[in-house]
Amino acid sequence: MISDHWPLCGLVVRTPRLELRVPDQGLLGELADVAVAGIHDPAVQPFVAAWTDAPRAQVARSVLQWQWGQWAAWRPAAWSLALVAIAEGRVIGTQDVNAEDFAVLREVRTGSWLGRAWQGRGYGTEMRAAVLELAFAGLDARYATSEAFADNDASYRVSRKLGYVDDGVARYVVRGVPAVSRRLRLDRAGWAAARALQVTVEGLEPCLPLFGV
Ligand SMILES: CC(C)(COP(=O)(O)OP(=O)(O)OC[C@H]1O[C@@H](n2cnc3c(N)ncnc32)[C@H](O)[C@@H]1OP(=O)(O)O)[C@@H](O)C(=O)NCCC(=O)NCCS
Repeated sequence: MISDHWPLCGLVVRTPRLELRVPDQGLLGELADVAVAGIHDPAVQPFVAAWTDAPRAQVARSVLQWQWGQWAAWRPAAWSLALVAIAEGRVIGTQDVNAEDFAVLREVRTGSWLGRAWQGRGYGTEMRAAVLELAFAGLDARYATSEAFADNDASYRVSRKLGYVDDGVARYVVRGVPAVSRRLRLDRAGWAAARALQVTVEGLEPCLPLFGV
């Protein structure tokens, strides 16, 4: 069985409304469908790599190849866990949590997107809270960071609700012009104080060596 050899396939994080797991090929196809249907207002570009500006077929392929790339590149010293979020029986988006030198730094970054039909209904907050539970309670992280462009109010609001504090800015080139992003940071005490959601993590134990823990 695949989870005997790649235990991450048996890792499941559950919140009251969501299940987050490493996708099989069928779920990955659903995720590509979500991206093709649209994940943001085309007038704005919320990602540093403007991958959603590409034609639809290319957007779908880049979802698949990016996910496969995370699996192929996985090392305990540099990992990226890309999960699909499932609600109401279907894939609605993705939440990733990633780290470099986690064994030493105990710090994770997160990133996420949802299909537009599922935005603004609290799912983004719920899936971020899910991976924070995995990181802080499951992997004994000390910090989690997030970053979003200054006009991304939804992402910023999700972070603030979950206890993150401002951690400076960064500048990127997006669509050929400068874009300022806000960095946010959550420490263990902040996570514990803001923690409100019931989250369960299943199948973590055999994965720990893969996370460098
Ligand atoms: C960012 C994202 C994952 C957040 O998920 P979500 O399900 O929409 O977020 P939630 O519904 O949990 O929470 C959003 C919060 O932002 C608030 N919000 C949303 N748009 C806002 C706006 N324009 N101004 C102020 N607040 C806003 C909502 O009111 C809500 O806060 P509340 O619970 O206090 O009312 C989702 O919107 C998304 O996929 N966006 C497109 C892709 C993207 O930007 N990804 C992140 C790149 S860094």
